[in-house]
Amino acid sequence: MIEAPCLKVSKAFGERAIRLVAKLNLLDRRLKVQSDGGYVYVPLLDEPSIHEKAELSNELKGLEIVKRLFPKRTKVVKAVDLAAELLPPRLLASFPRSIDFLGHIAIVEIPPELEEYKEVVGEVVLRAHKNVRTVLAKAGAVRGIYRLRNFEVIAGSDETETVHREFGCLYYLDPMRVYFSPRLSYEHYRVASQVREGETVIDMFAGVGPFSILTAKMLNLVRVYAIDINPDAVSYLKRNIVANRVEDKVVPILGDAGKVVAERLRGLADRVIMNLPERASEYIGAACEALKPRGGVIHYYEFASGDNPAKSVETRLKKIVAEQTNRRVSKVLASKIVREVAPYVWQIAVDLEVE
Ligand SMILES: C[S@@+](CC[C@H](N)C(=O)[O-])C[C@H]1O[C@@H](n2cnc3c(N)ncnc32)[C@H](O)[C@@H]1O
Repeated sequence: MIEAPCLKVSKAFGERAIRLVAKLNLLDRRLKVQSDGGYVYVPLLDEPSIHEKAELSNELKGLEIVKRLFPKRTKVVKAVDLAAELLPPRLLASFPRSIDFLGHIAIVEIPPELEEYKEVVGEVVLRAHKNVRTVLAKAGAVRGIYRLRNFEVIAGSDETETVHREFGCLYYLDPMRVYFSPRLSYEHYRVASQVREGETVIDMFAGVGPFSILTAKMLNLVRVYAIDINPDAVSYLKRNIVANRVEDKVVPILGDAGKVVAERLRGLADRVIMNLPERASEYIGAACEALKPRGGVIHYYEFASGDNPAKSVETRLKKIVAEQTNRRVSKVLASKIVREVAPYVWQIAVDLEVE
């Protein structure tokens, strides 16, 4: 055991704390991150400077710097080293650099030149990541109303149902049957952390609940209506509501968000979340209808390309609100690129205040 300074944060901030500490080059990678009760302890190379502490405190509510004994990490087998043993040298540069982890599942994209070696890639990933029991290869694009992707099991067990942890919440899900992207984890947190006590939120395209459940976990007094059209997503959503003990705050609804709003949720919301980037523009009318008469906030997502994709989404959005609804955009609270989804195509987030 080695004594080291560390960051003590509530479990809800654990993953974010590790990422921030790594970004500040303060993470002591020789030592194992630890947790007990409701806290996570992230080992540091040194006490943070005043500026570093200010940056950390900005993002992580209630953090403390304390000293603690940490066990050493066991030596990690690196995927690239294993790949070097098992793949022809000319293919090493093509080994997938980014791997998505969903609970016990690792998801990789196999480039065409590695197609005949995909089982080897799977085996390497399995051996390099001890918590992984199933390796999936993406087999096609995300498509259809339910936003699903085909996957092929390339190594490990065929079990594709898993339980994924994000910001202290548990999500049961099967990527073969529901949409979930671990690459949106910060977006889930960014939106949830803007919700205030007493608000009513409508999550129009809720999936298995990452926006809705985190929001409910972070606030005492909130009501979230979580809608999805995919019966499997709503079935996992219900299970996740129970698993995260937010039954009294989140109302799961199966159906088309446009119809559900028109029939049951008009004029109720302080805030609407619209994470259906390829078709959200068709539902702006419904989102405006869902807001309270005095208005509220819309968190809108769209895919866009071009020189200034965030600006172009913002402009189009304002125009649609002005021309197709009886509302008006009073302020653009934020507009930013969330991630690249294809070469020169980005997912854009725009937060709007609507009167
Ligand atoms: C991109 S996923 C986002 C899921 C979730 N918000 C997340 O961040 O993981 C979009 C979801 O919208 C659902 N969906 C598509 N069309 C819908 C509609 N008309 N009404 C309600 N849900 C819909 C899909 O089934 C899918 O689960």
